[in-house]
Amino acid sequence: MTWRFRTDLTERDVTPEEVYRDRRRIMKMLAGAAATGGAMALARGRIARAMSRSELPEETQAKETAQNALSPITPYEAATTYNNFYEFGLNKSDPARRAGRLTIAPWQVRIDGLVDKPGTYDLNDILKRLPQEERIYRFRCVEGWSMVLPWRGFMLKDLLAWVGVKPQARFVAFETLYRPSEMPGQKYPLLKWPYREGLRLDEALHPLTLMATGMYGKPLPKQNGAPLRLVVPWKYGFKSIKSVVRISLVKEQPVTSWNMAAPDEYGFYANVNPHVDHPRWSQATERRLGGGLFAPRIPTLMFNGYEKEVARLYEGMDLRRFF
Ligand code: MTE
Repeated sequence: MTWRFRTDLTERDVTPEEVYRDRRRIMKMLAGAAATGGAMALARGRIARAMSRSELPEETQAKETAQNALSPITPYEAATTYNNFYEFGLNKSDPARRAGRLTIAPWQVRIDGLVDKPGTYDLNDILKRLPQEERIYRFRCVEGWSMVLPWRGFMLKDLLAWVGVKPQARFVAFETLYRPSEMPGQKYPLLKWPYREGLRLDEALHPLTLMATGMYGKPLPKQNGAPLRLVVPWKYGFKSIKSVVRISLVKEQPVTSWNMAAPDEYGFYANVNPHVDHPRWSQATERRLGGGLFAPRIPTLMFNGYEKEVARLYEGMDLRRFF
């Protein structure tokens, strides 16, 4: 069983007209990603998906069907012009207009804390060592909009295995670049800079947790977090920290930017959960970007549709309390 297609969205969910220009490239990219197993891997992924679906409650299956009926890959234009990246401003259009000035090469990542091989690593050296692959994931923002994105990246667990995690480590903390000269939003106290995020170690080691370097078969656009961002598909988008320069293995739960800003609204876990509303709005449904202004909202899925893969991480936890 390969993890490469361990997601219930594949190119099958892509309708050719919606993916317009990108379809051929995505097909090529998927073919490339599947080089080791090709169609067999894809077929195995589908079988696994079918099996996992039938194990879910009927209500969830119905919601999934409603979602997938509307799940073509989000148009590139929408994913790269409607962004949250407060380092470049508060408006959704600010990152695309202002991120151009960000210097992303060379790019170094400091890996420290409870690791066997702490150090400052050049991103190119990391990429020479770790296999990258393509993944199509749902992406759900806490604000109630969503996308379906074809990422490229490596599994965080591979990076952590390479640097060696010490047994005392329980959490992973991430930091975005702090460079106000190129990130004008950092001149204002919109959030406590640098942007910080964190995961429990088992979440970080989960095979779905990706460090993305590309989207739509191209390098990551700067407004989407170039050259390296976290992608945790079962969590609200704010966990997916952009332009990462530091990864620390720590003992205690790290502080995170949105949790510091509004602890009652943005929890540390931030698992997508249609049953736990944000204090100011419902999380039961979402608006899929690219569907037009009048597109109907679609049901939000538990753990953003990755329940089968990740629910075991939270067994016995009160998800209302640990939201
Ligand atoms: N990372 C940093 N450094 N700064 C940010 O403001 N916004 C987060 C997340 N990562 C953010 C960030 C939020 S709220 C969301 S929804 C996603 O990025 C948006 O990702 P996208 O713009 O690529 O869709």
